Amino acid sequence: MKKIGVLTSGGDAPGMNAAIRAVVRKAIYHNLEVYGIKNGFQGLMEGNIEQMNLGSVGDIIQRGGTILFSARSEEFKTAEGQERGIEQLKKFGIEGLIVIGGDGSFRGAQKLTEKGFPCIGVPGTIDNDISGTDFTIGFDTSLNTIIEAVDKVRDTATSHERTYIIEVMGRDAGDLALWAGLAGGAESILIPEKKEDFEDIVDRLKRGHDRGKKHSIILLAEGVGSGIDFGDRIQETTKLETRVTVLGYIQRGGSPTATDRVLASRLGAKAVELLMANQGGKMVGIQNNNLVNYPFDEIFAQSHTINEEMYNLSKELSI
Ligand code: F6P
Repeated sequence: MKKIGVLTSGGDAPGMNAAIRAVVRKAIYHNLEVYGIKNGFQGLMEGNIEQMNLGSVGDIIQRGGTILFSARSEEFKTAEGQERGIEQLKKFGIEGLIVIGGDGSFRGAQKLTEKGFPCIGVPGTIDNDISGTDFTIGFDTSLNTIIEAVDKVRDTATSHERTYIIEVMGRDAGDLALWAGLAGGAESILIPEKKEDFEDIVDRLKRGHDRGKKHSIILLAEGVGSGIDFGDRIQETTKLETRVTVLGYIQRGGSPTATDRVLASRLGAKAVELLMANQGGKMVGIQNNNLVNYPFDEIFAQSHTINEEMYNLSKELSI
Protein backbone atom coordinates (compact mmCIF):
# COMPACT_ATOMS: atom_id res chain seq x y z
CA MET A 1 0.00 0.00 0.00
CA LYS A 2 1.41 3.37 -1.03
CA LYS A 3 -1.39 5.90 -0.58
CA ILE A 4 -3.90 6.11 2.25
CA GLY A 5 -6.70 8.54 3.14
CA VAL A 6 -8.02 9.78 6.46
CA LEU A 7 -11.35 11.40 7.34
CA THR A 8 -13.38 12.34 10.41
CA SER A 9 -17.10 11.65 10.41
CA GLY A 10 -20.16 12.08 12.65
CA GLY A 11 -20.16 14.27 15.76
CA ASP A 12 -16.71 15.70 16.38
CA ALA A 13 -14.79 14.82 19.54
CA PRO A 14 -11.79 16.38 21.30
CA GLY A 15 -8.71 14.37 20.35
CA MET A 16 -9.71 13.80 16.73
CA ASN A 17 -6.90 16.17 15.69
CA ALA A 18 -4.39 14.19 17.71
CA ALA A 19 -5.58 11.05 15.88
CA ILE A 20 -5.24 12.73 12.47
CA ARG A 21 -1.75 13.86 13.43
CA ALA A 22 -0.76 10.33 14.43
CA VAL A 23 -2.13 8.87 11.18
CA VAL A 24 -0.30 11.41 9.03
CA ARG A 25 3.03 11.22 10.85
CA LYS A 26 3.04 7.44 11.20
CA ALA A 27 2.19 7.02 7.51
CA ILE A 28 4.89 9.44 6.36
CA TYR A 29 7.39 7.78 8.71
CA HIS A 30 6.69 4.57 6.77
CA ASN A 31 6.96 6.29 3.37
CA LEU A 32 3.25 6.28 2.59
CA GLU A 33 1.45 9.22 0.99
CA VAL A 34 -1.49 10.48 3.06
CA TYR A 35 -4.57 12.28 1.80
CA GLY A 36 -6.91 14.24 4.04
CA ILE A 37 -10.58 14.05 3.07
CA LYS A 38 -12.59 17.01 4.29
CA ASN A 39 -16.21 16.90 5.57
CA GLY A 40 -16.31 13.15 6.11
CA PHE A 41 -18.03 10.88 3.60
CA GLN A 42 -19.79 13.89 2.09
CA GLY A 43 -16.41 15.38 1.16
CA LEU A 44 -15.26 12.00 -0.13
CA MET A 45 -18.14 11.88 -2.63
CA GLU A 46 -17.39 15.46 -3.67
CA GLY A 47 -13.65 14.86 -4.08
CA ASN A 48 -12.74 17.31 -1.31
CA ILE A 49 -9.34 15.66 -0.93
CA GLU A 50 -5.83 17.06 -0.38
CA GLN A 51 -2.45 15.51 0.16
CA MET A 52 -1.12 16.11 3.68
CA ASN A 53 2.46 16.54 4.84
CA LEU A 54 4.24 16.74 8.19
CA GLY A 55 3.43 20.45 8.44
CA SER A 56 -0.30 19.91 7.81
CA VAL A 57 -0.61 18.44 11.28
CA GLY A 58 1.77 20.74 13.16
CA ASP A 59 0.34 22.59 16.18
CA ILE A 60 -2.94 20.64 16.23
CA ILE A 61 -2.42 18.00 18.96
CA GLN A 62 -3.85 20.39 21.57
CA ARG A 63 -6.79 21.65 19.51
CA GLY A 64 -10.42 20.53 19.87
CA GLY A 65 -12.67 19.90 16.88
CA THR A 66 -11.24 18.41 13.69
CA ILE A 67 -9.10 20.18 11.09
CA LEU A 68 -10.67 17.87 8.49
CA PHE A 69 -14.18 19.00 9.46
CA SER A 70 -16.98 16.50 9.92
CA ALA A 71 -20.42 15.72 8.56
CA ARG A 72 -23.21 13.18 8.78
CA SER A 73 -24.02 12.09 5.22
CA GLU A 74 -27.36 10.51 4.32
CA GLU A 75 -26.29 10.16 0.69
CA PHE A 76 -23.32 7.98 1.56
CA LYS A 77 -25.71 5.42 3.06
CA THR A 78 -26.90 4.67 -0.50
CA ALA A 79 -25.09 2.40 -3.00
CA GLU A 80 -24.86 5.34 -5.44
CA GLY A 81 -23.21 7.52 -2.80
CA GLN A 82 -20.70 4.78 -2.02
CA GLU A 83 -19.89 4.38 -5.75
CA ARG A 84 -19.29 8.13 -5.99
CA GLY A 85 -16.87 7.86 -3.08
CA ILE A 86 -15.07 4.94 -4.66
CA GLU A 87 -14.63 6.88 -7.92
CA GLN A 88 -12.87 9.63 -5.99
CA LEU A 89 -10.63 7.17 -4.15
CA LYS A 90 -9.62 5.67 -7.50
CA LYS A 91 -9.02 9.10 -9.01
CA PHE A 92 -6.52 9.94 -6.26
CA GLY A 93 -5.02 6.42 -6.23
CA ILE A 94 -5.96 5.96 -2.57
CA GLU A 95 -5.81 2.29 -1.60
CA GLY A 96 -6.93 2.32 2.02
CA LEU A 97 -8.87 4.63 4.31
CA ILE A 98 -8.86 5.46 8.02
CA VAL A 99 -12.23 6.58 9.35
CA ILE A 100 -12.24 8.39 12.69
CA GLY A 101 -15.77 8.51 14.10
CA GLY A 102 -18.51 6.49 15.73
CA ASP A 103 -20.77 3.57 14.94
CA GLY A 104 -22.54 5.23 11.97
CA SER A 105 -19.20 6.14 10.41
CA PHE A 106 -17.98 2.56 10.75
CA ARG A 107 -21.01 1.34 8.81
CA GLY A 108 -19.87 3.49 5.89
CA ALA A 109 -16.33 2.16 6.34
CA GLN A 110 -17.64 -1.39 6.30
CA LYS A 111 -19.49 -0.76 3.01
CA LEU A 112 -16.32 0.56 1.37
CA THR A 113 -14.35 -2.44 2.64
CA GLU A 114 -16.95 -4.82 1.15
CA LYS A 115 -16.57 -2.99 -2.15
CA GLY A 116 -12.81 -3.55 -2.21
CA PHE A 117 -11.44 -0.51 -0.34
CA PRO A 118 -9.98 -1.58 3.01
CA CYS A 119 -10.97 0.75 5.82
CA ILE A 120 -9.91 0.88 9.46
CA GLY A 121 -12.13 2.54 12.06
CA VAL A 122 -10.76 4.64 14.92
CA PRO A 123 -13.38 5.20 17.65
CA GLY A 124 -13.85 8.93 18.11
CA THR A 125 -16.97 10.09 19.96
CA ILE A 126 -17.65 11.68 23.34
CA ASP A 127 -20.41 9.10 23.93
CA ASN A 128 -18.13 6.11 24.73
CA ASP A 129 -20.82 3.95 23.17
CA ILE A 130 -18.75 1.62 20.99
CA SER A 131 -18.22 -2.06 21.82
CA GLY A 132 -14.73 -3.52 21.54
CA THR A 133 -12.98 -0.61 23.24
CA ASP A 134 -12.95 0.51 26.86
CA PHE A 135 -12.75 4.16 25.80
CA THR A 136 -13.43 6.28 22.76
CA ILE A 137 -11.44 9.39 21.84
CA GLY A 138 -13.11 12.46 23.36
CA PHE A 139 -14.88 10.77 26.25
CA ASP A 140 -12.32 11.79 28.87
CA THR A 141 -12.24 15.44 27.76
CA SER A 142 -16.01 15.64 27.67
CA LEU A 143 -16.25 14.05 31.10
CA ASN A 144 -13.86 16.64 32.52
CA THR A 145 -15.87 19.46 30.92
CA ILE A 146 -19.01 18.07 32.55
CA ILE A 147 -17.36 17.78 35.95
CA GLU A 148 -16.18 21.38 35.79
CA ALA A 149 -19.77 22.39 35.09
CA VAL A 150 -21.20 20.14 37.83
CA ASP A 151 -18.82 21.66 40.40
CA LYS A 152 -19.92 25.16 39.39
CA VAL A 153 -23.60 24.29 39.48
CA ARG A 154 -23.06 22.77 42.93
CA ASP A 155 -21.81 26.13 44.27
CA THR A 156 -24.95 27.97 43.26
CA ALA A 157 -27.15 25.03 44.18
CA THR A 158 -25.84 25.23 47.76
CA SER A 159 -26.28 29.00 47.97
CA HIS A 160 -29.92 28.75 46.93
CA GLU A 161 -30.71 25.34 48.48
CA ARG A 162 -32.04 24.00 45.22
CA THR A 163 -32.26 20.73 43.36
CA TYR A 164 -30.47 20.77 40.01
CA ILE A 165 -31.02 18.44 37.09
CA ILE A 166 -27.98 18.42 34.77
CA GLU A 167 -28.68 16.92 31.35
CA VAL A 168 -25.65 15.54 29.54
CA MET A 169 -25.05 14.08 26.07
CA GLY A 170 -24.38 10.46 25.23
CA ARG A 171 -27.02 9.64 22.63
CA ASP A 172 -28.37 6.19 23.72
CA ALA A 173 -25.54 5.55 26.15
CA GLY A 174 -25.24 6.52 29.80
CA ASP A 175 -21.46 6.51 30.21
CA LEU A 176 -21.02 10.28 30.40
CA ALA A 177 -23.82 10.58 32.97
CA LEU A 178 -22.63 7.61 35.02
CA TRP A 179 -18.98 8.66 35.17
CA ALA A 180 -19.86 12.32 35.76
CA GLY A 181 -22.41 11.36 38.40
CA LEU A 182 -19.87 9.26 40.27
CA ALA A 183 -17.09 11.83 39.92
CA GLY A 184 -19.40 14.73 40.78
CA GLY A 185 -21.12 13.08 43.76
CA ALA A 186 -24.61 13.22 42.27
CA GLU A 187 -27.61 12.16 44.38
CA SER A 188 -29.15 10.29 41.44
CA ILE A 189 -27.93 9.21 38.02
CA LEU A 190 -30.44 8.50 35.26
CA ILE A 191 -29.18 6.52 32.29
CA PRO A 192 -30.99 4.74 29.45
CA GLU A 193 -29.47 1.37 30.33
CA LYS A 194 -31.20 1.26 33.74
CA LYS A 195 -34.78 1.87 34.67
CA GLU A 196 -35.09 4.08 37.75
CA ASP A 197 -38.08 4.13 40.02
CA PHE A 198 -39.32 7.74 40.15
CA GLU A 199 -40.52 7.28 43.74
CA ASP A 200 -37.01 6.19 44.79
CA ILE A 201 -35.51 9.35 43.33
CA VAL A 202 -38.09 11.47 45.10
CA ASP A 203 -37.54 9.62 48.40
CA ARG A 204 -33.79 10.11 48.18
CA LEU A 205 -34.25 13.85 47.56
CA LYS A 206 -36.66 14.18 50.46
CA ARG A 207 -34.45 12.17 52.82
CA GLY A 208 -31.50 14.41 51.96
CA HIS A 209 -33.56 17.54 52.44
CA ASP A 210 -34.92 16.34 55.81
CA ARG A 211 -31.46 15.67 57.17
CA GLY A 212 -30.35 19.21 56.23
CA LYS A 213 -28.73 18.74 52.83
CA LYS A 214 -28.34 22.12 51.18
CA HIS A 215 -28.75 20.94 47.61
CA SER A 216 -29.13 17.93 45.34
CA ILE A 217 -27.64 17.20 41.95
CA ILE A 218 -29.20 14.73 39.50
CA LEU A 219 -27.28 13.70 36.40
CA LEU A 220 -29.58 12.77 33.53
CA ALA A 221 -28.39 11.25 30.25
CA GLU A 222 -30.11 12.69 27.18
CA GLY A 223 -31.08 9.15 26.16
CA VAL A 224 -33.51 9.00 29.10
CA GLY A 225 -35.56 11.98 27.94
CA SER A 226 -35.85 15.72 28.43
CA GLY A 227 -34.20 17.21 31.51
CA ILE A 228 -36.69 20.08 31.41
CA ASP A 229 -39.69 17.73 31.63
CA PHE A 230 -38.03 15.69 34.34
CA GLY A 231 -37.25 18.85 36.33
CA ASP A 232 -40.90 19.93 36.16
CA ARG A 233 -41.99 16.54 37.47
CA ILE A 234 -39.48 16.62 40.32
CA GLN A 235 -40.49 20.11 41.41
CA GLU A 236 -44.19 19.27 41.25
CA THR A 237 -43.75 16.10 43.31
CA THR A 238 -41.15 17.20 45.89
CA LYS A 239 -42.16 20.87 46.14
CA LEU A 240 -38.41 21.56 46.33
CA GLU A 241 -37.17 24.45 44.20
CA THR A 242 -35.69 22.80 41.10
CA ARG A 243 -33.64 24.10 38.17
CA VAL A 244 -32.43 22.40 35.00
CA THR A 245 -29.16 22.89 33.12
CA VAL A 246 -28.75 21.31 29.68
CA LEU A 247 -25.00 21.34 29.06
CA GLY A 248 -25.25 20.94 25.28
CA TYR A 249 -22.41 21.36 22.83
CA ILE A 250 -19.78 22.65 25.26
CA GLN A 251 -19.38 18.93 25.98
CA ARG A 252 -17.97 18.40 22.49
CA GLY A 253 -15.43 21.20 22.41
CA GLY A 254 -12.20 22.21 24.08
CA SER A 255 -8.61 21.14 24.21
CA PRO A 256 -8.30 17.36 24.62
CA THR A 257 -7.00 16.01 27.93
CA ALA A 258 -3.63 14.28 28.02
CA THR A 259 -5.47 10.95 28.27
CA ASP A 260 -7.40 11.63 25.06
CA ARG A 261 -4.28 12.82 23.22
CA VAL A 262 -2.36 9.68 24.16
CA LEU A 263 -5.29 7.42 23.29
CA ALA A 264 -5.78 9.17 19.93
CA SER A 265 -2.07 8.94 19.10
CA ARG A 266 -1.94 5.22 19.89
CA LEU A 267 -5.12 4.35 18.03
CA GLY A 268 -4.31 6.50 14.98
CA ALA A 269 -0.86 4.95 14.61
CA LYS A 270 -2.22 1.42 15.08
CA ALA A 271 -4.76 2.01 12.31
CA VAL A 272 -1.93 2.81 9.88
CA GLU A 273 -0.11 -0.39 10.91
CA LEU A 274 -3.20 -2.46 10.14
CA LEU A 275 -3.61 -0.88 6.69
CA MET A 276 0.09 -1.53 5.97
CA ALA A 277 -0.51 -5.17 6.91
CA ASN A 278 -3.29 -5.23 4.29
CA GLN A 279 -6.01 -5.63 6.85
CA GLY A 280 -9.30 -3.85 6.39
CA GLY A 281 -12.80 -3.94 7.83
CA LYS A 282 -11.64 -3.59 11.43
CA MET A 283 -11.82 -1.17 14.30
CA VAL A 284 -8.89 -0.47 16.59
CA GLY A 285 -9.60 -0.09 20.27
CA ILE A 286 -8.11 -0.22 23.73
CA GLN A 287 -8.89 -2.82 26.37
CA ASN A 288 -7.07 -3.03 29.70
CA ASN A 289 -4.56 -0.52 28.26
CA ASN A 290 -3.68 -2.90 25.40
CA LEU A 291 -4.36 -2.07 21.76
CA VAL A 292 -6.86 -4.46 20.19
CA ASN A 293 -8.71 -4.74 16.90
CA TYR A 294 -11.95 -6.42 15.90
CA PRO A 295 -13.83 -6.88 12.61
CA PHE A 296 -16.63 -4.31 12.20
CA ASP A 297 -19.17 -7.16 12.07
CA GLU A 298 -18.21 -8.21 15.59
CA ILE A 299 -18.48 -4.62 16.83
CA PHE A 300 -21.94 -4.21 15.27
CA ALA A 301 -23.13 -7.54 16.72
CA GLN A 302 -22.45 -6.51 20.31
CA SER A 303 -24.44 -3.94 22.17
CA HIS A 304 -22.68 -1.42 24.36
CA THR A 305 -23.00 -2.06 28.08
CA ILE A 306 -22.33 0.09 31.10
CA ASN A 307 -20.05 -0.85 33.96
CA GLU A 308 -22.36 -2.54 36.50
CA GLU A 309 -19.91 -2.26 39.37
CA MET A 310 -19.69 1.50 38.87
CA TYR A 311 -23.44 1.80 38.63
CA ASN A 312 -23.97 -0.13 41.85
CA LEU A 313 -21.30 1.91 43.59
CA SER A 314 -22.98 5.15 42.54
CA LYS A 315 -26.13 3.91 44.27
CA GLU A 316 -24.30 2.98 47.45
CA LEU A 317 -22.46 6.29 47.67
CA SER A 318 -25.51 8.44 47.10
CA ILE A 319 -27.50 6.84 49.90
O1 F6P B 1 -22.48 11.48 19.14
C1 F6P B 1 -22.06 12.65 19.73
C2 F6P B 1 -23.24 13.53 20.04
O2 F6P B 1 -22.74 14.73 20.61
C3 F6P B 1 -24.30 12.91 20.95
O3 F6P B 1 -23.92 12.91 22.29
C4 F6P B 1 -25.48 13.77 20.62
O4 F6P B 1 -26.69 13.09 20.87
C5 F6P B 1 -25.32 14.03 19.15
O5 F6P B 1 -23.94 13.86 18.88
C6 F6P B 1 -25.73 15.39 18.67
O6 F6P B 1 -25.59 15.41 17.30
P1 F6P B 1 -25.68 16.69 16.37
O7 F6P B 1 -24.30 17.29 16.34
O8 F6P B 1 -26.06 16.14 15.04
O9 F6P B 1 -26.69 17.61 16.97
